[in-house]
Amino acid sequence: MAGARVVQLGGASARPSAARGWGHWRTWAQPAAAWAFRRRAACVFELRDLAGIAQSQAGVCLPEGYSFRQATLEELPACAELAETPLDEYRRRCRGGDQCYGTFWDGEPVNLSWLHFGSCYVYGLGLLIEAQPSECYLYNVLTDPGHRGRGLYKNTQRILIEMLASRGITRVRQVVAIDNTVPQIALPKLGYELNQVIRHKCIGGLKITTILDAAGAVASRRLFWWAPVGVFRI
Ligand SMILES: CC(C)(COP(=O)(O)OP(=O)(O)OC[C@H]1O[C@@H](n2cnc3c(N)ncnc32)[C@H](O)[C@@H]1OP(=O)(O)O)[C@@H](O)C(=O)NCCC(=O)NCCS
Repeated sequence: MAGARVVQLGGASARPSAARGWGHWRTWAQPAAAWAFRRRAACVFELRDLAGIAQSQAGVCLPEGYSFRQATLEELPACAELAETPLDEYRRRCRGGDQCYGTFWDGEPVNLSWLHFGSCYVYGLGLLIEAQPSECYLYNVLTDPGHRGRGLYKNTQRILIEMLASRGITRVRQVVAIDNTVPQIALPKLGYELNQVIRHKCIGGLKITTILDAAGAVASRRLFWWAPVGVFRI
């Protein structure tokens, strides 16, 4: 995938209370620990023939009682709480033009997906995704634990493919942690192909990102200190 790379790690899962308790820790100690040492590996899945896939999936629908739509600004706090992500971060993404889609049950979000169009830098993997505005990076996907196993993930992924195909989007990428089996199995069934494997280390702030192609050969390795300037950070 010439010059392009991708990223992201799964979202969250368990609901709120912990978020408040660990909020302070998350503010400073967690980034400090990640700066000192961090090692992660993830797979990049890619979907190209959106229109073809959209055409072949007849009658996608969610179980009764669920509705899927873009979250409003007023709904952002509930979405951030579901993902255990600081609300400021969700607001920053909206200001940057990213779109938060949710599946709602009784007015509450129970499943989320974020869409970014164009280039971005995925902090957790030191991964720069160079992309056109017609290319989408789908991230922070999750289902509330109380609503899992009902097809929300699989079906919202299909609805998103249809929606993005109708907008003329030519390519969708997603990054899945190497040990996250549900999306690893589900995405190929939806038409995605494994495109790259990313191995990332951060030692005392020095970042080393190795990109392997689908056959396991090293495609590139980059050592760097600073995140790229002027690229939206996720
Ligand atoms: C991954 C996740 C989004 C799946 O959500 P979900 O709404 O429960 O998924 P679905 O009900 O649509 O199930 C999708 C597929 O995975 C299977 N699946 C779901 N949970 C499973 C489990 N715990 N073990 C094995 N398979 C499982 C389903 O059977 C289904 O497969 P099928 O198409 O063969 O029937 C959810 O587990 C989650 O939020 N995990 C934490 C965050 C995360 O990992 N996000 C993905 C980042 S890429």
